[in-house]
Amino acid sequence: MTDSAPWVNPLRNAADKRLPRIAGPAGMVIFGVTGDLAFKKLLPAIYDLASRGLLPAGFTLVGYGRRDWDTADFCDYFRSAVEAGARTRFNHDVWEHLSQGIEFVQGSFDDEGFDRLSARLAELDKARGTGGNWAYYLSVPPEFFSNICHQLERVGMANSAEGSWRRFIIEKPFGHDQESARELNEIVNAVFPESAVFRIDHYLGKETVQNIMALRFANQIFEPMWNAHYIDHVQITMAEDIGLGGRAGYYDGIGAARDVIQNHLLQLLALVAMEEPSSFAPEALRAEKVKVLRATQPVYPLSKTTARGQYTAGWQGSEYVKGLREEDGFDPASTTETYAACTLKVNSRRWGGVPFYLRTGKRLGRRVTEIALVFKAAPNQPFVDGEADALGQNAVVIRVQPDEGVTMRFGSKVPGSTMEVRDVNMDFTYAEAFTEESPEAYERLILDALLDESSLFPTNEEVELSWSILDPIIDYWHKNGAPEDYQAGTWGPPSADKMMRRQGHSWRRP
Ligand code: BG6
Repeated sequence: MTDSAPWVNPLRNAADKRLPRIAGPAGMVIFGVTGDLAFKKLLPAIYDLASRGLLPAGFTLVGYGRRDWDTADFCDYFRSAVEAGARTRFNHDVWEHLSQGIEFVQGSFDDEGFDRLSARLAELDKARGTGGNWAYYLSVPPEFFSNICHQLERVGMANSAEGSWRRFIIEKPFGHDQESARELNEIVNAVFPESAVFRIDHYLGKETVQNIMALRFANQIFEPMWNAHYIDHVQITMAEDIGLGGRAGYYDGIGAARDVIQNHLLQLLALVAMEEPSSFAPEALRAEKVKVLRATQPVYPLSKTTARGQYTAGWQGSEYVKGLREEDGFDPASTTETYAACTLKVNSRRWGGVPFYLRTGKRLGRRVTEIALVFKAAPNQPFVDGEADALGQNAVVIRVQPDEGVTMRFGSKVPGSTMEVRDVNMDFTYAEAFTEESPEAYERLILDALLDESSLFPTNEEVELSWSILDPIIDYWHKNGAPEDYQAGTWGPPSADKMMRRQGHSWRRP
């Protein structure tokens, strides 16, 4: 490497803020690199960043794991992950360049492997110009966090020399309740200051989720209606059609509420309900989210405002799929829920009296994540004789995935000589409006972590507050029997519909 500033692309106009910034000299160590997440998401995302020219020339990726591999084995594995999962087309030159910076260091999470790792990183700093800047990505179950933190500290890898940095990137679950999250945060923060900790919630890396902020704060038309005067209730849905095949080890004992509501759905709620931040700088944005989470509580009694279920065998489209109890590795007596729904309220002037319904589930009718703001009826309807009977409630629906976009639903006159009003949709879809493809969530988040851009990463406080909202619900469930069955391919257990009916509403069929 001869260039003194190899990460600067001379073809870019540095003043053009629309171009993504390129990471400065850095390397990354992935712990748990042989796991599913690394194969499906992290390694392809790193390749995609390289192919978009957003990584520094000397970028170095070190895989650390127990497998008896050398660097050539790891390179083959990396390449198959890229071929299977990268968003951008495989390009031989990009790969050649990237693969020069790929390394594998063998070791476990509690042995002298860390001494070897530390020595190797020092060599790589010299050879590849990584400048002592290392991000440690923990793609491992949380029970290993403590050992890894201690080992990194022991061998001096947690501290950086003046002018360089060390960052700690972690994946959920961040504990299983508020207390365990606090303990985990203490372990991590004892070694890495909070400013160096990047907690991944991959939903925040999704284009449509970031669009919530653009929609709300770049426009004038939505914000005046974005409150309890106009909004009747909010529905946040994350439905999946997949089951748990192969993930029993992680999921059994965790369940849908901990897996998805505690993180993804509460983050969506925070972005929808927060006040306008003074800027999108990390402190400003996170402060607004914290205020909302602090004001959010379950609606009681939980027997009437929550629901949970477990999928049984059924037709998922044209395929007949197994029930949870038949899935490999799942204890048939397990009471882990695969569907969870709850009703929350946000105690603020803006949202007083507006229920926020959150639901998520596996093996539901189809894969869809959306946020629907459902409006109150117009105060007066000057229609007669059923002219407006087919009119539902107006809604703004933010479709997070698939078919990313925003829909406004409102009433319109049916063509003809009579006055009849019916619901219609006005649609914006990313695919039609833009030619650019959205980057994958992990591309955005990995790049942000390398750039020290922490806006899209939840803080320890957000994580603990989210648990405090959910803990009473999970406690209640554990004391009150088993989840109700629902058939694969349906929209969840009957109690989920009852929960809505009791509150005078019904779930949207997305
Ligand atoms: C993960 C959950 O966080 O999100 C999984 O642990 C879930 O259970 C996944 O399947 C869904 O992510 P996406 O991006 O496909 O909606």
